[in-house]
Amino acid sequence: MTMSMDFTGKVVVVIGGTSGINRGIAERFAEHGAKVAVASRKQDKVDDTVAALRRLGGEAMGFTADVREAEAVDAGMQAVHERFGPFDVVVSGAAGNFPALANDLSWNGFKSVVDIDVRGTFHVMKAAFPRLRKPGASVINISAPQSFLPMQAQVHVCAAKAGVDMITRTLAVEWGPSGVRVNSVVPGPIDGTEGMARLAPDAGARRRALAGVPLGRFGAPVDVANVCLFLASDFGSYVSGTVIPVDGGWAQTGCGGMSDYLGNLAVQGAAGRG
Ligand code: NAP
Ligand code: COA
Repeated sequence: MTMSMDFTGKVVVVIGGTSGINRGIAERFAEHGAKVAVASRKQDKVDDTVAALRRLGGEAMGFTADVREAEAVDAGMQAVHERFGPFDVVVSGAAGNFPALANDLSWNGFKSVVDIDVRGTFHVMKAAFPRLRKPGASVINISAPQSFLPMQAQVHVCAAKAGVDMITRTLAVEWGPSGVRVNSVVPGPIDGTEGMARLAPDAGARRRALAGVPLGRFGAPVDVANVCLFLASDFGSYVSGTVIPVDGGWAQTGCGGMSDYLGNLAVQGAAGRG
């Protein structure tokens, strides 16, 4: 039997799917025939994304929720379930990031990122599970190299994304018997995204980041989306509990010295703020 990447009739939910990498993932699934639902905090971003997904030809819907609010996430998932039915794929990608050294990071700054990334991922997982197609569903958490590579000015993100990957591994164990696979995907430096704008905001930083990519180019959202398609398809049917970098080899070079760069950037930022 020939397998395919045809997602016609499948239901895909992308939380944090209204910009950047996650929106690229939502659009890629729509291009492959899926019914796609997206969610984030801002109504205008949700509306714009749903319109774009419909232009790609498929059914689409969206809802607003802050992933830090479990009840809002649950209510949004319920609305998607009522309209589209059981979820075949759930992608959880909402995250927060800014460079700040631990000594300059307020308690609330640390808490905000941990709340969005770790508690938010848990809320998405909890709301998704009863509505997943079982067996068969594929759950994908969007992580970052900070989950396994310490980086200066990223203590909040490193702690948070490590937590996300441990949610992935633990739920792969707990949910495997239900026929649900859970994996993390770790994007590298993906050009044109908010993450890059925050961590590599000038030409020097971009040169430095690129120099650390063995494949010699920045990534695009579609590079990450293609791996999500693979994981969600029959080709990925025996893959669970993994953390998969999609980074052109960037992590193998320590992300090209981003730790030192971000440390300096944060020192300058702190000095600028007086
Ligand atoms: P982005 O454009 O800022 O995407 C974040 C998305 O999450 C947006 O749709 C945002 O929409 C939503 N969001 C943020 N906070 C939220 C909250 N509290 N509740 C619900 N939704 C929320 O960022 P990106 O750079 O494409 O990054 C996407 C993912 O890839 C993140 O998980 C990031 O850690 C990971 N990543 C990115 C890179 C990179 O190169 N960019 C590298 C490694 C990992 P609203 O503003 O409307 O809420
Ligand atoms: N440096 C140091 N601290 C910062 C900061 C920065 N650049 N940006 C925010 N903070 C601190 C704030 O000062 C605040 O702490 P305080 O109350 O002690 O002053 C805390 O973080 C929360 O900030 P706030 O703006 O109230 O949070 P929010 O919940 O509205 O937004 C963020 C969350 C801060 C993560 C925001 O950047 C965001 O919404 N990010 C989503 C998009 C994103 O990060 N994309 C890239 C993904 S890789």
